[in-house]
Amino acid sequence: MQEASVRVAAERTIQKIAASRRPAAVIADPVAVRRRLLAWYARAKRDLPWRGSGDPYPIWVSEIMLQQTQVERVKEFFGRFMARFPSVHALAAAREQAVLKHWEGLGYYRRARQMHAAARKIVAEHVGEFPRSVVGLMSLPGIGRYTAGAIASIAMDLPAPIVEANSRRVLARLAGHDLPVGGAGDEPIWQIAAALVPRKKAGAFNQALMDLGAMICTPDRPLCQRCPVASCCAAKQTGRVDRIPALAAPRVTKQIREAAVVVRHGDRVLVAQRGPGEWWEGLWDFPREPTKKAGDRTIGHVTYTVTHHRIECVVVERRVRRVARPKATQRWATIESLAALPITSPGRRIVVLLAEDGRKA
Ligand code: ADE
Repeated sequence: MQEASVRVAAERTIQKIAASRRPAAVIADPVAVRRRLLAWYARAKRDLPWRGSGDPYPIWVSEIMLQQTQVERVKEFFGRFMARFPSVHALAAAREQAVLKHWEGLGYYRRARQMHAAARKIVAEHVGEFPRSVVGLMSLPGIGRYTAGAIASIAMDLPAPIVEANSRRVLARLAGHDLPVGGAGDEPIWQIAAALVPRKKAGAFNQALMDLGAMICTPDRPLCQRCPVASCCAAKQTGRVDRIPALAAPRVTKQIREAAVVVRHGDRVLVAQRGPGEWWEGLWDFPREPTKKAGDRTIGHVTYTVTHHRIECVVVERRVRRVARPKATQRWATIESLAALPITSPGRRIVVLLAEDGRKA
């Protein structure tokens, strides 16, 4: 292990020990917090397109999209996705490539593949109905503790807790929990959330926590003077708002260099589908090689980041006179026809480079 990853691993171990030995912080007046947060939510909640229906399907779709994507971006995609796949049955009946195509631009495509698999399971094993418990929901692909809690509380009004980035910060501050959060460090936050979630209106309450975190209890410069629960907030009362939540050490980024090869035969280029376990599984891209070969012409460069890796990629063209039959996961395609395929984000940037290169030539 490299030195930096040893340090990160040590941090995590310390977190785990610290989190398990210290008694969980508690919120002093949970009754007042519930009442004030629900009243604030009723007048200040964000107007989001998936709110207002008690149907678990749109709530599930929105929660999966929101897992790694900002609300503003999800708003752009949600309507289009729902128009194309309006029900769990429609999603289950679709081909995976169609689902990935409608996910293009949202990133983290594993979410789309798992959602598709979950839709098929709901139709095949649950007569098209979502299981009505946190445990039942968690038996579906891609539904973890947070998403199960969100669907159970928002769509079914079950008193299930949730912890995600915004609510984690609000809860840590309310309780004055100053240990590092994230990963194993979230366990005490789940305990705080479970103790606080009301038996009725849990969905509104959980969304109030998330909206408060997004709009008032922000990471930097929170608007405590406008916060409905400032007087119940341990971090505010003890002057530690800027130190809570404590963050774990960031993960180190690994640098990688590679060459993307645009193999060209006449007006066609070779594209390959990413395989199981690869980044962007199921999506199409140009083949990669570790380095540029002699004879390749450089078209340009793209730099991109994927889960703790920063990749510097030289894009080269290799013209070939003869073509071997492509493998099952490869295709000779015209640049125009690529628009119909789900393409990785670096792949789409390479297509843009190719268009610019074509105009220069
Ligand atoms: N972030 C993720 N899910 C959310 C929701 N339902 N409301 C507000 N913010 C969210």
